[in-house]
Amino acid sequence: MLKKLSLSAALTLGLSATAALAAGGAGHVEDYDFSFEGPFGTFDQNQLQRGLKVYTEVCAACHGLKFVPIRTLGDAGGPDLPADQVREYAKLYEVYDEELEDFREAKPVDHFPESALENAPDLSLMAKARAGFHGPYGLGINQLMKGMGGPEYIASLMTGYVDPPACAPDDFDGYYNRAFTAGGIPAECKDENGYSKIEGSWIGMAPPLDDGYVEFDDGHENDLENLSKDVSAFLMWTAEPKMMARKQAGLTGVLFLTVLAVLLYLANKRLWAPIKQRAKDEE
Ligand code: HEC
Repeated sequence: MLKKLSLSAALTLGLSATAALAAGGAGHVEDYDFSFEGPFGTFDQNQLQRGLKVYTEVCAACHGLKFVPIRTLGDAGGPDLPADQVREYAKLYEVYDEELEDFREAKPVDHFPESALENAPDLSLMAKARAGFHGPYGLGINQLMKGMGGPEYIASLMTGYVDPPACAPDDFDGYYNRAFTAGGIPAECKDENGYSKIEGSWIGMAPPLDDGYVEFDDGHENDLENLSKDVSAFLMWTAEPKMMARKQAGLTGVLFLTVLAVLLYLANKRLWAPIKQRAKDEE
C-alpha cells in the first residue's frame, strides 16, 4: 500500500513538472552540432578564436566576463593564443586598480571587465546556467544523451529573432525571440488561464548578430548561424575551461576500471576453481 502511494505520488509529481514546463511556454532550441559533444569531444581552437573575436567585437560592448582571467586565453585546450597576443589583447580593456584608485590598461593577470551595460548579464558562466534541452521527463529530447544544451541555447538565442506571432500587438516592448522564455508575453498571446500559447517571449536585447557582422582573417564563413555557433563555443569554454581535462580524466578512469574488472574476474575464477572442482567431484 505504502509503495503504491509513493509511486503514484511520484507519477503525479513527474506529470505536474512536465505540465509546468509546458505551461511556462517552451522555447525553440536548435540541436546544433559542436566539436566538444560526447565523451571524446574536444574544443576546436580555431572556433574558440573566432568566438573570441565575435565576443570582443560585438558582445563585449554590453556583456562582461568577470570570472575569466585574460591570461587563460593562452591556455592549451582553450583558444591557445601566443603570449604576445594575449598581452596585446589585454590592452583592449581598462580595469579599475584598487591601489592606484584609478583605471588602467588591463594586463593578462586581470580578469575581463564586468558588464558595461547594467542589465546585460555576465556571460562567464552563461553556457552552464541555461539548459537548452529538458529531460528526462523532457519534451522529447533527453539531457542524458545530448548534454544540457547551454551552447545550443545561446546559439538558438542568436538565431531566434524571427517575425513575432500574429497574436502580438505591434508596439509590445522588446524583441520577439523564439528561444527566450524568461521575457514578457502580451496578454493577447495567452489562453484564458494565463498560459502562453506561443514559443519564446520578448527580450530586452536587440538582435546582436547578423550575416557578415564579424569578418575572419582566414575568410571563414561568417553567416549568422556560423557566428552564433562560434560565440557559443567560446562561451562554453569560458564556462568550463577544463572540460577537456575532465573528459580525459574520466576516460583514464574508465580504462583503469576496465582493466581492474578483468583482473578481478580472473582472480575470482582462480580462487573459486578448487572449490568448484571439489563440488564436481562430490557429485
Ligand atoms: C547592446 C547591448 C548588448 C549586446 C551588444 C549584446 N547583448 Fe546580450 N543582452 C543584453 C541585454 C540588455 C540582455 C538582457 C535581456 C533581457 O533579460 O531581457 C542580454 C541578454 C543576453 C543573454 C541572456 C539570455 C537569457 O537567457 O537570460 C545572452 C546569452 C546574451 N545576451 C548573449 C549575447 C551575445 C552572445 C552577444 C554577442 C554576440 C550579446 N549578447 C550582445 C544586451 C546586449
